[in-house]
Amino acid sequence: MKKIIVVGIIFLLPFWVFSNKPFAIIVHGGAGTYSNDSIQNYKIMQVISDAVEKGYKVLENGGAAVDAVETAIKVLEDSRLFNAGKGSVLNEEGFVEMDASIMEGKELKAGAVAGVRDFPNPISLARLVMEKTPHLLFAGEGVGKLIDRFQLKRINPDSLVTPEKLQEIKSGKIHKKGTVGAVALDKYGNIAAGTSTGGIANKMVGRVGDSPIIGAGTYAKNSTCGVSCTGLGEFFIKQSAAFHISALIEYANYSLKDAVGYVLSEIMKMGATGGIIAIDKNGNIFFDYTTQGMPCGYKSSSGVKKVLIFK
Ligand code: GLY
Ligand code: GLY
Repeated sequence: MKKIIVVGIIFLLPFWVFSNKPFAIIVHGGAGTYSNDSIQNYKIMQVISDAVEKGYKVLENGGAAVDAVETAIKVLEDSRLFNAGKGSVLNEEGFVEMDASIMEGKELKAGAVAGVRDFPNPISLARLVMEKTPHLLFAGEGVGKLIDRFQLKRINPDSLVTPEKLQEIKSGKIHKKGTVGAVALDKYGNIAAGTSTGGIANKMVGRVGDSPIIGAGTYAKNSTCGVSCTGLGEFFIKQSAAFHISALIEYANYSLKDAVGYVLSEIMKMGATGGIIAIDKNGNIFFDYTTQGMPCGYKSSSGVKKVLIFK
């Protein structure tokens, strides 16, 4: 009898330990200027909430942080409401070039793509680079070859060009939509982060921002935190923003909040704005932005859920 109890305890112990570990997800839909059009804002918040719920479900079912991040970001890429995936803005020649990256914090594995023209979910390509190739970052023509090599379906790049997007470029009145991103901590203590974007509207062909740059737009390390950024990419690259936050925690003992605040203020000093979402190894969630708004949502195993556009 004693033996059965001991074996039972040994067998159940890992489940008990995992079930008590905190897990959480946070997503963003881009720092920028948002109108107070309540119908549009309601739609944005619905999609953010859907991304949070779908990502959270993965974590709740014992899935990996990296799965939760990819799942959440795909919801945002597919929604057309954000500047990522099917909603991506056009460059100055009137076509789409998307960037994305994903990173997991256990072994610091990462994957990224830049200048994607004919695939609807760049975040999934970034994951493929991370898991199925010996490389980290693919750009331009090489991304097309990667899609073919893994027998994925390319889409017609023209399908990403809508009359509304063309009209915006022509009129110069560009509706500002934001980059998307997600950070998750799973039941096993693994952190992952991902970011996906169409970049800057009317950008020069070939311009690459911070989103596919590991350490700038995205970073994850189990012993510190996971981070996804949004804002004018050139400045986030100059500040090594995402890695900078992790480094402040690791080397200078900053709290997550102070580290995010410091990096945003350094970017402000350079004359740029943006936003950051992050989760640390203890499951603390933090976000901040220096723009007028940032769609953002999070949910944690402690029972907290929040979705907002304005602070
Ligand atoms: N391209 C601006 C942003 O990151 O939302
Ligand atoms: N933060 C997105 C970009 O600058 O492309």
